[in-house]
Amino acid sequence: MIVKRSLTLIILHLVTSLVFFVPPIQSKLSHTSLLEQICRQSPHYHLCVMTLRSSIDHRSKEDIAGFARLTLEIVNANASTTLENIQKVYVKTGDPKLKEALKYCLVSYNVIVKEHLREALNAMNEGDYKVVEQKAYVAIMEAGSCNNKVKNLAIPPLRDTNRYVQNLCAITMSIVNKLNQPYQPISTT
Ligand SMILES: *[C@@H]1O[C@H](CO)[C@@H](O)[C@H](O)[C@H]1NC(C)=O
Repeated sequence: MIVKRSLTLIILHLVTSLVFFVPPIQSKLSHTSLLEQICRQSPHYHLCVMTLRSSIDHRSKEDIAGFARLTLEIVNANASTTLENIQKVYVKTGDPKLKEALKYCLVSYNVIVKEHLREALNAMNEGDYKVVEQKAYVAIMEAGSCNNKVKNLAIPPLRDTNRYVQNLCAITMSIVNKLNQPYQPISTT
């Protein structure tokens, strides 16, 4: 009986040691907290956590710049497919009101994808985070102007997408903003 109990204790002890002290698990935990820290300071905590958590894989660099790049890549993928979808509906629709609004959004998404996000990703590669922040900002404005044209029309998916693009760009801005803060060396005098 006593032997059995101490055996249980030993096993329990082993299990807890495994859970808490195996290095890969530990490093995973600290990455999670960087992610949470970053997202907590972003304007859309849940979207930020959900988006980054579900997209991190072995290729992603789990540092601040890596998170910024990931959000940009995700919003870029969504906006690129959205652009293709708008094109398809634009060609097909016989509704003149819808067509006019879509024409407007076609211009917006064309600029978002082919200029703003492309330039933001290039700037990300060059470590020019100020430009990343500016491009994410103009992408938000552009999604807003598309939304002004569709907000009274019965195409809710595009409204959701506009909001999504705006929110993810706002998250990107808050992340790169951390990289823009100047490094302040400790005074030695
Ligand atoms: C983009 O994201 C929005 C919001 O999650 C979603 O509704 C939409 O289907 C996405 N578009 C594409 C093309 O994935």
